[in-house]
Amino acid sequence: MMQSNTNYALFFERYHDFLPTDFVSGLTHKHLEHKTLRVNTSKISPPDLLTLLTQAGFEICPDEQYPALFHVNSHCSNLLAKSWQARAGLFYFQSKASYLPAQILSPLIGETVLDLAAAPGSKTTQLSQLRQEKGLIIANDINPKRRAALAFNLEQQGCANVQISGYDGRQIGNLAAECFDRVLLDAPCSLETYALKKKDFFKYWSLAKVQQMANLQRQLLVSALKACKKGGTIVYSTCTLAPEENEINIKWLLDNYADFLELEPINQTQNQVLSEFQGQRFSKQIQNCYRILPDKSNGYEAFFIAKIRKTKSLPPHNPQQNQSASTKYKHLSKKDQQSLFDQLNIVYQFDLDWQTDFALIGDYTKSWLICKSSSDLEHGQLQIERPALPFGRQTQKGYRLSFPFCLKFGHLAKANYLEIDQKQALDFCQGKNIPAASLAVNPGIQQIIRHQGFALGRAILLNDGTLKNQTPPAFVRQSL
Ligand SMILES: C[S@@+](CC[C@H](N)C(=O)[O-])C[C@H]1O[C@@H](n2cnc3c(N)ncnc32)[C@H](O)[C@@H]1O
Repeated sequence: MMQSNTNYALFFERYHDFLPTDFVSGLTHKHLEHKTLRVNTSKISPPDLLTLLTQAGFEICPDEQYPALFHVNSHCSNLLAKSWQARAGLFYFQSKASYLPAQILSPLIGETVLDLAAAPGSKTTQLSQLRQEKGLIIANDINPKRRAALAFNLEQQGCANVQISGYDGRQIGNLAAECFDRVLLDAPCSLETYALKKKDFFKYWSLAKVQQMANLQRQLLVSALKACKKGGTIVYSTCTLAPEENEINIKWLLDNYADFLELEPINQTQNQVLSEFQGQRFSKQIQNCYRILPDKSNGYEAFFIAKIRKTKSLPPHNPQQNQSASTKYKHLSKKDQQSLFDQLNIVYQFDLDWQTDFALIGDYTKSWLICKSSSDLEHGQLQIERPALPFGRQTQKGYRLSFPFCLKFGHLAKANYLEIDQKQALDFCQGKNIPAASLAVNPGIQQIIRHQGFALGRAILLNDGTLKNQTPPAFVRQSL
C-alpha cells in the first residue's frame, strides 16, 4: 500500500506539467470507460452496421472524425460483446487512439507488412481490412497465450492474408532483414494509459519498469529498422505517457541511426508532442511525432506515434541472414486444390473460382486458406507458426470445413445453409443445438448457420433429429 502511494505521488509529479488536470483528478478515467468499436468493413459498411445495431437496441453513435469508429454506451457494451453481431465478426472493440497507428502506417495494396508485436490483433485485423486482404501481413508476438487470442481474432474477423510467428521481436531484424515494405511496432510498454483505469496499476508501476521497457523498445526499434526494406516505413507506437518510451527513445534512434532514417511528419490536429522533459530539450525533428493525451472531450486515451522512413540499408548482421529457411508448410498441388474447391462448390454451390484469389496450404488431410497475394511462405529465415485461415480437414465421416471458413464465407453459400431466427441465433451463439424438427436438412452434411444473412457458424444433423452445434469453445465462451 505504502509503495503504491509513493508510486502514485511520483507518477503525478513527473507528468504534472503536461497531463490534463481532469486526468489527475480521475475524471478522464471515468469518461473513458465507454467503449469504441471499429467496423469490420470487409463484412459490412459503417451505415449498415449503424442501422443493424440501432435496430437491435444498442446505443451507439458514429465518431465525428472517423466513419469506421462508433462510440458505444457503456451500459450496453457487455451485451454487444456477447451479441450475434459480435459472433459474425461485424466489428472489433478498439479504442480511438489505438485506431491511429495502422491508419498512419497505411500500407498500399500488395505491400508486405510486419506487425512486430501483434497480439491480440487490434491493429493486425485493422491492417488486413484496410487493404481488403491484398498483401501479406506477418503478425508476430512473443507470448503464446496472446498469440492464441490473436488467432481467435483473426478467425472471427475473417483475415485470410495473415501468417503468425512467435519470435522475440528483437531477433526478426536479423532473421528477415529487409523483407518488409512496412513495419508496425506497437511496442510493449509501461501501459500508463491505464493509470486510472486499473485499480492496482500503481502496485506495478515504477521508474525502473519505465526504463526497462524503454531499453526493450530500443532493441525492438533497431530490429524493425533492419526488417524494413530500404525506402519502407516503420510506425512506432506506445500507449504510455513516459517520455523515456516516446520522445526520448525516438531521439535515441535519431542520434544513433541518423544515416539510415528520417522522421516523417504525422499530420494530425492537437498534437501534444513534448519539446522538453525534465530539462532535456528535444530537436525540431521530434515535433514530427504525434502525442495524444487523454481527453474526455474527444474520447482519446494516451498514445504516442512516430513514423519513420528507412533511407539506407543497415550493414548485414551476418552474410547468411538473407538466405531462406526451408519452411515446414507447403502449398497443396494445383490438382488437390482444385479437387477440394470443386467439392466445396458442389456441396454449397458457392459459384466461386477459388483458385483465382486463394491458395491452400498444408495437405489434403488438413489445410489452410490464404489470399493468393499473401501466399508466399518464405520470409528470410522466419519460421511461420500458423500459415493462414483454417480451411478444413479430412475425417472418417468426410471432409469437414473449419469454423472460421464458415464464418467468413458462409453468407455466399447457395445450398446447405440454414437461416435461423433471433432467438435461435442467440441460443446458437451460446453453444446450444438447434431443434431440427421443422428444418429441411441434409443428413451428414455440415450446415452453415446464418441469421439475417450473416454466417454464425456450422452445425451437423444428429440421428435424433437435432442439429449439433459445431462452434469451438472459445467462440462459445465469448457469447456467455
Ligand atoms: C501493446 S501490446 C500489442 C497490441 C497489439 N499491437 C494490438 O493492437 O492488439 C505489446 C505486445 O508485445 C508483445 N511483446 C512483448 N515483448 C515482446 C518481444 N520481445 N517480442 C515480440 N513481442 C513482444 C506482448 O506479448 C504484447 O502482446
